[in-house]
Amino acid sequence: MKKLINKKEEKKINVGVIGLGYVGLPIFLCIKNKFETVGFDINSERIRELNNYIDRNKEFKKHELKLKKKSKYSNDYNELKKCNFYIISVPTPVFKNKKPDLRPLYNACNLLKKVINNEDIIFFESTVFPGLTRSLKIKFFGDKKIHLGYSPERINPGDKINTVKTIKKIVAFDSKSLKVKKAVLDVYKSITKNIILSNSVENAEMSKVIENIQRDINIAFMNEILMVCKKLKLDFIEVIKLAKTKWNFLSFSPGLVGGHCLPVDPFYLYHLAKKNNYNAKFMLSGRLVNDQLSDYVEDEIKNQINSKKIKKILILGVSYKANVADLRNSLALQIYLKLKKKFKNKIFAFDTVIDKNSAQKFKIYQKISKINNYDLIVPLVNHTDLKNRFLSNYILRKDRYLDFFNYFG
Ligand SMILES: NC(=O)c1ccc[n+]([C@@H]2O[C@H](COP(=O)([O-])OP(=O)(O)OC[C@H]3O[C@@H](n4cnc5c(N)ncnc54)[C@H](O)[C@@H]3O)[C@@H](O)[C@H]2O)c1
Repeated sequence: MKKLINKKEEKKINVGVIGLGYVGLPIFLCIKNKFETVGFDINSERIRELNNYIDRNKEFKKHELKLKKKSKYSNDYNELKKCNFYIISVPTPVFKNKKPDLRPLYNACNLLKKVINNEDIIFFESTVFPGLTRSLKIKFFGDKKIHLGYSPERINPGDKINTVKTIKKIVAFDSKSLKVKKAVLDVYKSITKNIILSNSVENAEMSKVIENIQRDINIAFMNEILMVCKKLKLDFIEVIKLAKTKWNFLSFSPGLVGGHCLPVDPFYLYHLAKKNNYNAKFMLSGRLVNDQLSDYVEDEIKNQINSKKIKKILILGVSYKANVADLRNSLALQIYLKLKKKFKNKIFAFDTVIDKNSAQKFKIYQKISKINNYDLIVPLVNHTDLKNRFLSNYILRKDRYLDFFNYFG
């Protein structure tokens, strides 16, 4: 019944998406109406919310989460038994010692092992180092004839222009079978029309991880120049404006780099290079500088508190980046919490994008009336909503703002 290939007539494709986070949920939503799709997540609370059409990440509205046909959200792995095409989009974090923590991938594979059949197709979307997904195939499904694929995700949370439907998506798989190719294209073309095919899973894995490392390093360079300009009392904005007039100067903005991709992915490749006796010298350099910026910002705020008669400070934005609710590895949140510990009644924060529970947990305002009660306002995360709310006040009272990243510029 379940075989995808060995049938004269074309086999119906049933898709299982494993891990419904920032990556898995949009993938699921793109294909749910074309294929009978199971959106599976081990987090039962996430499934309960999705069944009530709530996306805690605030990326999708109620009507977008509604299901037609036979697709469903579930945390019962038995539902996956009817699938023959799997897409894995679980997290790939690092341990405290920065080595890759592959447990979510291992857990997902262990679970799949219970439901998978010969000729099924497994695609990984999680960011990994080259060679990892093939090693998972051998380790967990070596006794079966499984078709392996890798399609790195380029989702940019909070970005409504470069969405999964509009960006180019790399799709790599290791099968020469035309039937597999057709199934893969059927599924992936329902996600985006812009498919870049590759027959090397490893090249696709490598391309994804270096995209993120390159970004981390480029932002780090801007962050370093920002800190040096401050030390030298030079106008960073003017400096960059001048440099940009050269045809091949690359423009990146400085900022607090957080989340669970850029601060983590360089360690995946570093780890693999080291295992292969190559001591990488450059790929972690972005990490050092980007983390250092956080200390710099914290020190600057402390200096302001100590040097001026400041009674109340308001930090604008605490999530890991603009227009995103996610607080994981958020440097802005870390800065706020450290300062709050030290200056208790002086430091406050405001963020309308994060979810209510987190706001309550970390004592972050989501409503504010008397902006003029604050002596110093420090925008750290450039949420559009915050920018809109505070722009007119900024124009009137620029002297009260400590604007590291030219958020209102
Ligand atoms: N968020 C991004 O901007 C982004 C962009 C591109 C690639 N990625 C990569 O995609 C992968 C997923 O990232 P994300 O942002 O969607 O993570 P996420 O944390 O938002 O979501 C992951 C989901 O997987 C679930 N999960 C964990 N273990 C599971 C298991 N064993 N079985 C089923 N579900 C499980 C979690 O409950 C969670 O809902 C990571 O490798 C990440 O690096 C993320």
